[in-house]
Amino acid sequence: MAVLWLMLLLMPASCLLQTTQDPNSPIKNVRMDPEHKRLTWDLNGNVDQISCIEESRLPVQAKNNRYCSFELMSPCKVTNYTVTVTDPPFSTWILFPEPDGTPGAAAENLSCRVHDVDFLTCDWTVGRAAPQDVQYQLYVEDGTTLERRKCLHYKTDDRGTHVGCRFDDISRLSKYPHGLRFTVGGTSGAARVPCTDVFRYLSAIEKLTPPNITVTCNKTHSFMEWKMLSYFNHRFNYELQIQKSTEAAATETVKEHTSFTLLNTGAYTVRIRVREVFDELLSEWSAPQRFECDQEEDMHTRSLRTSLLAALGVLLALLLALLLCRRFSLMQKVLPPIPRMKNPIGDDFPSTLMPWEAGRADPEDCAVAEVQVVKET
Ligand SMILES: *[C@@H]1O[C@H](CO)[C@@H](O)[C@H](O)[C@H]1NC(C)=O
Ligand SMILES: *[C@@H]1O[C@H](CO)[C@@H](O)[C@H](O)[C@H]1NC(C)=O
Ligand SMILES: *[C@@H]1O[C@H](CO)[C@@H](O)[C@H](O)[C@H]1NC(C)=O
Ligand SMILES: *[C@@H]1O[C@H](CO)[C@@H](O)[C@H](O)[C@H]1NC(C)=O
Repeated sequence: MAVLWLMLLLMPASCLLQTTQDPNSPIKNVRMDPEHKRLTWDLNGNVDQISCIEESRLPVQAKNNRYCSFELMSPCKVTNYTVTVTDPPFSTWILFPEPDGTPGAAAENLSCRVHDVDFLTCDWTVGRAAPQDVQYQLYVEDGTTLERRKCLHYKTDDRGTHVGCRFDDISRLSKYPHGLRFTVGGTSGAARVPCTDVFRYLSAIEKLTPPNITVTCNKTHSFMEWKMLSYFNHRFNYELQIQKSTEAAATETVKEHTSFTLLNTGAYTVRIRVREVFDELLSEWSAPQRFECDQEEDMHTRSLRTSLLAALGVLLALLLALLLCRRFSLMQKVLPPIPRMKNPIGDDFPSTLMPWEAGRADPEDCAVAEVQVVKET
């Protein structure tokens, strides 16, 4: 009985390997090493020129006749790998992973995108043949470091089945331009659920976010600038759609710069969209932003001028008051003796000096005071 069970258990494996069981076959025991992503085998005698084919792709040469590398091999999708030997002529194949579980139970149409600069979101649909109690989990694996991260923020359908997931703060997820493998695994009490996976470069799945425009302007020039944010793409061209109040909308292209100067502005509305240089990824148009250049400038300068003038007026008044005050005190100190003095200048001056009256500031008083000061120095 135990032997029968053992035979049953071994049957699928021996079925798969039957073509390499021939003792005369030049390669034996073809297998996938998922950790190193290598298709490998044992050599049997002198063998020359081995190549491998993944499904219907182009053949790849084996390294040292020992293995073929499949960096992008899928751990979920059942794939046919064929190994061909030129001399002696021989060919065999295996399926990896081996078909397992209910094929229609796996998540379908897995798609992922980077969006709003910081976020990575994947969506999928529940497999058509999935059992009622199926639940899905998403994780990503760095294509180079093989570091894995579980996704935490799930979206569920009305049955509570996960149908999407979001990573926040993806800048920590992958700093380098290599890709990520996204895998949705499934669990169920009723059936084995195969996994579903896709391999993607984050730069290629980014939905670019159009930047915000800030403007500095005066009556003749409007200087627009913006800051483009993306962790995975770095070279951009921009399109500006500018609508001045009286004219038809005009589209301007700005190549790999993040500013644009508009002449004779007045009020205008502008929208921007961004196109990545290599992959031509194109963002949506931004929401229109409205700028009122000369009006703002007018109001600004007018209020500035008014306040400047007011300040100048106050300053002048203060200065005048100060001068007057100082003159009064000076005159009070200097002038009282004047009526008793002899004419200090000379005989041309009238000899009858006016008596000084306190509280009156006549032009004559000023002249006298000035003469006194000059003489003292
Ligand atoms: C795998 O591919 C080989 C040809 O490359 C073909 O002969 C074989 O039938 C395929 N196996 C399956 C299960 O499709
Ligand atoms: C999945 O995608 C395929 C091809 O794009 C489409 O035909 C199918 O309807 C999609 N399935 C679901 C459940 O959305
Ligand atoms: C643009 O500005 C809006 C509102 O100030 C803000 O919510 C948004 O995050 C900004 N977008 C970018 C890309 O900076
Ligand atoms: C407006 O700004 C531009 C550039 O900043 C400058 O060249 C120009 O002279 C300014 N015009 C006025 C009227 O201030």
